[in-house]
Amino acid sequence: GGSMQFLMHGANFLKHRGGYLNTGIWSDKAMKAASYYGEVYEVASSKADHFSYIPKEDTFMVKPDTDYIYMTSNNTVHGTQWQTFPHVDVPLFCDMSSDFLSRPVAVTNFDFIYAGVQKNVGPAGVVVGIIKDSLLKHVREGLPDMLSYRTFADHDSTYNTPPVFCIYFVNRVAHWLEEQGGLTAIEARNAKKAALLYDCIDGSDGFYRGHATKDSRSVMNVTFNLPTPELEAKFVAEATARDLIGIKGHRSLGGCRASIYNAVTEEACQALADFMNEFKKKQ
Ligand SMILES: Cc1ncc(COP(=O)(O)O)c(C=O)c1O
Repeated sequence: GGSMQFLMHGANFLKHRGGYLNTGIWSDKAMKAASYYGEVYEVASSKADHFSYIPKEDTFMVKPDTDYIYMTSNNTVHGTQWQTFPHVDVPLFCDMSSDFLSRPVAVTNFDFIYAGVQKNVGPAGVVVGIIKDSLLKHVREGLPDMLSYRTFADHDSTYNTPPVFCIYFVNRVAHWLEEQGGLTAIEARNAKKAALLYDCIDGSDGFYRGHATKDSRSVMNVTFNLPTPELEAKFVAEATARDLIGIKGHRSLGGCRASIYNAVTEEACQALADFMNEFKKKQ
């Protein structure tokens, strides 16, 4: 799973200190797990503002002897997403678990990308890792085989029995993505889907309040609040009765959340937007 990478990136590469762009519970967890191997610190963080925004590059504080900077491209719980990626002078690592293959990405900007595939690409049980050969040379020596990225690279990802069915499924999804027109087309479709919901929030005269600041909004997870927790509970119950399921926000944040990954259709987003407009009118 993705969570194993919270530990593994530190096991392999944390030698002096690791810098973290802390934008939500996933990077927070990664920082804690990696601290088993050495010093970790926040290069920037939006924690004090309930992770409602993506920090700007000119606020980054990078310490000397930083082995890497670690980031999470999309934050499922808070509904924020990096719109563009930072340029830093040390190796850049990115957890793309929740937006991998939802948009084109300049892979060469990163030294290490990983993604648990379960959001956009296939069933849980597979993690895709993309790592620069130059970085593999710096893998910590003496690690147990299963903790070392070099083991997986040296054995073409078949050091131990791979989850063949899950990988087959990923292959089918990759073909499906090509049939949709590839990542550029899927990006446009995802943007259109998200716009249906954000337009509804922005046009609601403050009845729906987006959690993320506008410049940091996620195209994958749309998070919002209603005027009171009671109304939120009513909203979720009525939505569920109309088969609009999974709208309750993550327990750590509350409110509401629409997760609209690649597999969610434009019609589904339109149905939710229609319901939101109707619900507001009734109050
Ligand atoms: C960005 C991100 N990283 C990591 C994880 C954890 O992945 P897993 O549940 O496969 O351990 C998730 C889970 O949803 C996630 O959204």
